[in-house]
Amino acid sequence: MAKGKSMSFTRRDAMVGGAAVTAAAMSTQVFAQSDRSAAAGAAAGAGVAAPRAAATDVGFTVNGTAQKLTAADNRMTLLDALRETLQLTGTKKGCDHGQCGACTVIVNGRRINSCLSLAVMHEGDEITTIEGLGSPEEMGPMQTAFVEHDGYQCGYCTPGQICSATAVLEEIKAGIPSHVTRDLTADMQPTAAEIKERMSGNICRCGAYANILAAIQDVSENNA
Ligand code: FES
Ligand code: FES
Repeated sequence: MAKGKSMSFTRRDAMVGGAAVTAAAMSTQVFAQSDRSAAAGAAAGAGVAAPRAAATDVGFTVNGTAQKLTAADNRMTLLDALRETLQLTGTKKGCDHGQCGACTVIVNGRRINSCLSLAVMHEGDEITTIEGLGSPEEMGPMQTAFVEHDGYQCGYCTPGQICSATAVLEEIKAGIPSHVTRDLTADMQPTAAEIKERMSGNICRCGAYANILAAIQDVSENNA
């Protein structure tokens, strides 16, 4: 059968047609971009301010001292407020994603990951950081136990471990349950399994776990 005109579409025709379509699409895109640039330029020329982050005043108590943050960026974490604004650098930033426990502080008696909490959420709260549990000259009981039991190597996780451990013993004393011990109200020392379970959110990359456990058990036994 002889090929008609409509059937004589060659590979070259296809390439020419494709190039034309691509060129048309590109020119549409270029015009759209130049429209957007023109609009942005017009806004800048008209003195339209770029949107600003919302800010809030917030007040809380840290280690017994009242603190007021003025116009705190609503997106600022409690961890950054403590470290960057209040210069309390004992609290450490590890993952910044709630996975390592290095940033643990105690808020109204309960331990939290300060990297997962916004500073502006803590109006009126009582916050305790590692600096509030003692000083190098006058260490608190958990700090002393960590030193005596060699519960650290590099020390980066240690402030979080100590804050967490301090709150863990209070949780146990208050009878806050876990799935490890059937009856926490029984007058007995928490088992190693109970402490390990409760401390499982605090990671130690140096692997000082055995000594950390010994330190916590020591404080627990001496406070019984
Ligand atoms: Fe907050 Fe790792 S820094 S959990
Ligand atoms: Fe180094 Fe725990 S002592 S991470």
